[in-house]
Amino acid sequence: MSAKLAVLFLFMTVGFAMPVLLGIRQISDIQLPNWHTGYQPEQPISYSHRLHAGYLNIDCQYCHVGVEESRHATIPNLQTCMNCHELVQGQTEEAKKNISKLNEAWANGKGEGVTWKRVHNNPDFVYFSHMTHVRIATYVDDNGKQRTDETGAAIKGIDCLVCHGDMKKVGVGVQYQNLTMGWCLNCHRDQNERQGKLGMAQRAPVNACDACHR
Ligand code: HEC
Ligand code: HEC
Ligand code: HEC
Ligand code: HEC
Ligand code: HEC
Repeated sequence: MSAKLAVLFLFMTVGFAMPVLLGIRQISDIQLPNWHTGYQPEQPISYSHRLHAGYLNIDCQYCHVGVEESRHATIPNLQTCMNCHELVQGQTEEAKKNISKLNEAWANGKGEGVTWKRVHNNPDFVYFSHMTHVRIATYVDDNGKQRTDETGAAIKGIDCLVCHGDMKKVGVGVQYQNLTMGWCLNCHRDQNERQGKLGMAQRAPVNACDACHR
């Protein structure tokens, strides 16, 4: 057993005893850092997904450049915003005011940019890769249908929607799912079962602890 896994087992043992010791009787008495459905911290600039990804229809990948190539989707730097906002200064008073904060941050230090508050936050002992889920995984929905493109052809990858909800309808980032181990495992079990029925390989890890805890 790897050292990391041993530490996890220790956590688990202590974890089970802890609620009793602390007198915690129901789930709502505790709040682990990433069990935060609906968590939407106020951000330094009231950036709107609704406007940019929805109305202006900018691709998620234009800003979250890592999403298909690496573990992390990544948050865009200020340069990405300034590609447009060096010209776009806003029409309404509200927009002008909000965009002037961008200009200020840009003038103050191009390298630093804006410090966005993190919304999702898996513990360090969890391995999750956007690349695998967004580009490589096959996703079969509860009607046994694979994801398709506009022409109806089956395509790979799990839509952001499944895990993040419809980001085209919100302002700043918001957490849509509780990032519990159960959430990961439930999807993995369902996918293996549905894909098995279609005669496909079952590749989502369920019992292999070290797939997610490396
Ligand atoms: C299978 C579920 C799943 C899918 C599909 C998914 N994400 Fe995520 N996303 C997560 C999880 C889990 C985290 C938290 C990761 C962490 O804390 O390490 C996350 C975190 C993020 C973050 C925060 C920054 C980061 O890199 O961790 C961004 C931005 C993001 N996702 C964007 C996207 C976009 C855009 C798509 C679609 C192209 C997408 N995600 C698809 C589960 C998913
Ligand atoms: C592809 C071009 C483009 C990119 C990239 C872009 N924006 Fe915008 N943004 C716009 C347009 C167009 C508007 C609408 C301005 C108006 O009111 O006429 C806008 C509006 C805004 C507003 C004002 C909206 C309001 O009602 O308060 C803010 C704030 C803003 N953007 C922040 C950002 C940030 C932060 C980024 C980078 C993460 C960014 N934008 C990237 C095109 C862009
Ligand atoms: C919506 C369904 C779904 C959710 C939610 C989901 N996964 Fe997966 N995951 C998959 C599928 C499907 C695969 C198989 C990918 C393939 O075809 O190789 C997979 C594969 C993996 C793999 C093996 C491939 C790799 O990247 O090394 C890991 C690790 C993994 N998932 C971790 C996680 C973790 C951690 C979470 C929760 C934070 C999670 N997954 C949530 C569907 C999901
Ligand atoms: C113009 C740039 C831009 C586009 C396009 C964009 N985002 Fe974002 N996104 C951001 C910025 C900036 C943040 C950090 C501030 C915040 O949380 O709103 C962010 C935050 C997020 C987060 C929360 C990150 C965290 O801290 O956990 C998720 C999830 C996310 N975006 C998903 C999406 C999805 C899905 C799409 C496409 C439908 C998309 N984004 C399109 C700029 C963008
Ligand atoms: C598909 C990915 C995945 C697999 C497989 C997985 N875990 Fe986890 N595990 C997670 C995630 C995500 C968390 C963090 C959950 C949280 O913070 O609530 C976690 C948390 C834990 C914790 C910390 C306590 C807790 O419950 O939050 C322990 C201990 C643990 N896992 C043990 C295991 C063991 C033992 C196995 C194998 C039987 C395993 N895990 C398999 C994703 C996985």
